[in-house]
Amino acid sequence: MKNIILAITGGIAAYKSAFFARLLIKNGYNVRVIMTDGAKAFITPLTLQALTGNQVHTELLDETAELGMGHIELAKWADLLIVAPATANTIAKLAMGVADDLLSTVCLATTVPILVAPAMNQQMWQHPSVKLNLQTLRDYDYEVIQPASGMQACGDVGEGRLPEPEYLLEYVEYFIARHTTPQLLAGKNVTITAGATVEAIDPVRFLSNHSTGKMGFALAKACRNAGANVTLIAGGKVHLPTPLFVHRFDVLSAEDMLKVAKDCANGLALPCCDDEEHDHKHHHHDHNEFGNDIEVEPISTATDIFIATAAVADYRTRDVVPQKIKKTQDEMSLDLVKNPDVLATIAKEFPEIFVVGFAAETQDVEKYAKGKLESKKLNMIACNDVSRSDIGFGSDDNAMTVFFNNKNEPVVLEKMSKEKIAEQLVELIGVELGKKFTFVKP
Ligand SMILES: Cc1cc2nc3c(=O)[nH]c(=O)nc-3n(C[C@H](O)[C@H](O)[C@H](O)COP(=O)(O)O)c2cc1C
Repeated sequence: MKNIILAITGGIAAYKSAFFARLLIKNGYNVRVIMTDGAKAFITPLTLQALTGNQVHTELLDETAELGMGHIELAKWADLLIVAPATANTIAKLAMGVADDLLSTVCLATTVPILVAPAMNQQMWQHPSVKLNLQTLRDYDYEVIQPASGMQACGDVGEGRLPEPEYLLEYVEYFIARHTTPQLLAGKNVTITAGATVEAIDPVRFLSNHSTGKMGFALAKACRNAGANVTLIAGGKVHLPTPLFVHRFDVLSAEDMLKVAKDCANGLALPCCDDEEHDHKHHHHDHNEFGNDIEVEPISTATDIFIATAAVADYRTRDVVPQKIKKTQDEMSLDLVKNPDVLATIAKEFPEIFVVGFAAETQDVEKYAKGKLESKKLNMIACNDVSRSDIGFGSDDNAMTVFFNNKNEPVVLEKMSKEKIAEQLVELIGVELGKKFTFVKP
C-alpha cells in the first residue's frame, strides 16, 4: 500500500499538510495531492507539487485535467486516501454523499480505505452536526483520526487541532499494518513486559542491566497489528516512544513489575486512557429502543497472552539505604536477596494465560531454555545467544530459537530485524492459539 492520495481542505491547518506530504515522500510513499478551492486559499498547489513531484489535482469539471489523470483514474490509482485536514464542510459533504468537487467525487468513486483527520475550531468540533456526520462516516467504514487538543490557531484552547505530521505518519503506518496483517490475535488482551528493572541501592544508585526494551516494544506493535489490545509494562530504563494505541505502565523494580503484571492478569489494571478508540475496544456499546447509546457489560481486559521480554533483575538489595552512601570505606559489599520471578509467578498463578518467555543466555542456550520452559511451566520460550555481538541487547537485529511445551522440534528464526522477528513470533503464537489464519484484505 504505497500509493496515497493526500486530500487537503480549507482549514488553517492546511500548512501542516505540506510537512505531512514531505514525511510521506521521505518514507517511500507515492503521493498525489487533491486540493479543494478552500485549501488553495491557505496553501498553494505549487508547494505541494514541488514536495511530491506530482501535479496537484484541483479540478473536477476540467477537460485537460480529465485527459490526464481524471477522477476515476485517481480513485483507482490509490491504495489509501487521507483527508488532512478535513474541514467541517467537507466532512458534512462526505457524510451526505455530495460530489460537487474533485475531492468529494473521488471519495465516492474509490474503494480504498479512507482516513479522515478533522481539524477545526473547538466550538465547531463540539457541534452535534459534526459529531453526527463523523459517526455516519465511521458507519461507512471511514477511519476518523481523533484531533489533538491544545492551543488553536484562532486563540481558543480545546479539542480540534490537526495532530502533528509525525503522528499522522505513524497513524498511516499503523493503519496499513492493521489492514495487511493477518488478525491472528483479534480481540486478545496481550501484556508484555519490556526493558530492564531498576533496583535501588540508595536514593541515587541502582542495580540494573543492558536491556533497552526494543524487542518488547517491537512485539507490542506486532501484536497490536495482529488485532490485540496491548499493554506494555516498561522497566525503569526504557526510553522508547509508546507505539500508537498501546497502553503503557512504567515501573522500576521487579516487585513493581510483578504487581502491575498481576493486576493486568486479573483485568484490574485499566490504564487511564483518553483516546476513544481504546475505550471502544473495552466498553461494549449498544443502543436501546430509543436509539440512545448505552453501555453494557465491559469486555474483559484480563490478560490472555503474557509475553515476558523484560530483563528482570534476579536480585535486589536487602534494604534500600535511605541516605546516599558515603565513600568512606575501601571495600564494601551489598547484601542481596532474590527477586520474585515475574514470569514464573504469572505462569503459576494464572494457568489459563498463554505464557511466552524469553531467555537471554551466554552459554548452553538450548539446555537453559528447555529447562526454563519446563520449570516455569511456559507455553513457549524464545531464546537468544547474547554472547553474539551482532544481536541482542540494544541491537536492532535479533536471532532466536523458539521451543514449545507441546512439541519437541524448535523453530529457528535466523538473524533479522527485531520488527520482523516480532512478526514471526506473533505468527507462532497465533498458530499455537489455534486461530484460523485469516487475512484481512486491504
Ligand atoms: C481563516 C479561516 C480558517 C478556517 N479554518 C477552518 C478550520 O480549521 N476547519 C474548518 O472546518 N473550517 C475552517 N474554515 C472554514 C472553511 O474554510 C470553509 O468552511 C470552507 O467552505 C471549507 O471548504 P472545503 O471544505 O471545500 O475546503 C476557516 C475559514 C477561514 C476564513
